Amino acid sequence: MRKPIIAGNWKMYKTAAETAAFFEKFNPLVAQSTHCEIVICPTFVNLPAAVGAAKGTRIGIGGQNLYFVKEGAFTGEISGPMLEAVGVQWVIIGHSERRQYFGETDASVLKKTVAALDTGLKPIVCVGERLEEREAGKTADVLTAQFSGGIAGLDPAQFAKIVIAYEPVWAIGTGKTATPEIAADAHRVIREQAAKQFGKGAADAVRILYGGSVKPDNIKGLMAQPEIDGGLVGGASLDPVSFANIVNF
Ligand code: 13P
Repeated sequence: MRKPIIAGNWKMYKTAAETAAFFEKFNPLVAQSTHCEIVICPTFVNLPAAVGAAKGTRIGIGGQNLYFVKEGAFTGEISGPMLEAVGVQWVIIGHSERRQYFGETDASVLKKTVAALDTGLKPIVCVGERLEEREAGKTADVLTAQFSGGIAGLDPAQFAKIVIAYEPVWAIGTGKTATPEIAADAHRVIREQAAKQFGKGAADAVRILYGGSVKPDNIKGLMAQPEIDGGLVGGASLDPVSFANIVNF
């Protein structure tokens, strides 16, 4: 059985004070929620506040990115060991916004995933097609190419430790959710690639999250698909009540 994960990606939102205020409201709302793993990924500067606020709870904290070198002259970057040192357990890698605005590629996604695993962090590796690619009927090709260029470069032991997030770019922040069937189809494509590369056992075990306009009112339908193992939530994770309602789907 794959234990669901509900993860919040806070993107570039919230100050340290707002982070503390969120957890104060959120923690009691999910105190009994043992059916899934809960992860929140704030900005780098708010990681210590989040780690402190989540202490003694089952909520895991993650970064939104990392650099693949441990330390050095890389102005503005943050490494895996630095994340680990502040008490972070998770890290999002290759989010479409990183690919679109910051030049990330499948090759850098692979390097970052390996770096995260070397540090003992659990990577949430993102894939997903853009609107024009979906409209051109290229969704499966794009997902396959992203898988081959990135995740397929892991060894089986590394693959066993990652989580994959399918985030169709056209559904992110647009209010357009993929229907549960569309999402499940894409998840099957990804799982087939995983089976080809790493074998059926490994493919059956890997958790694939859906991301893109997940809200309290659509999470139930998404989670009803056996292919969907959780959500990676942007906007709706910023409000404690809304995110708790998603966690408690
Ligand atoms: P929204 O939930 O705001 O569409 O964002 C999804 C996302 O990008 C999560 O990583």
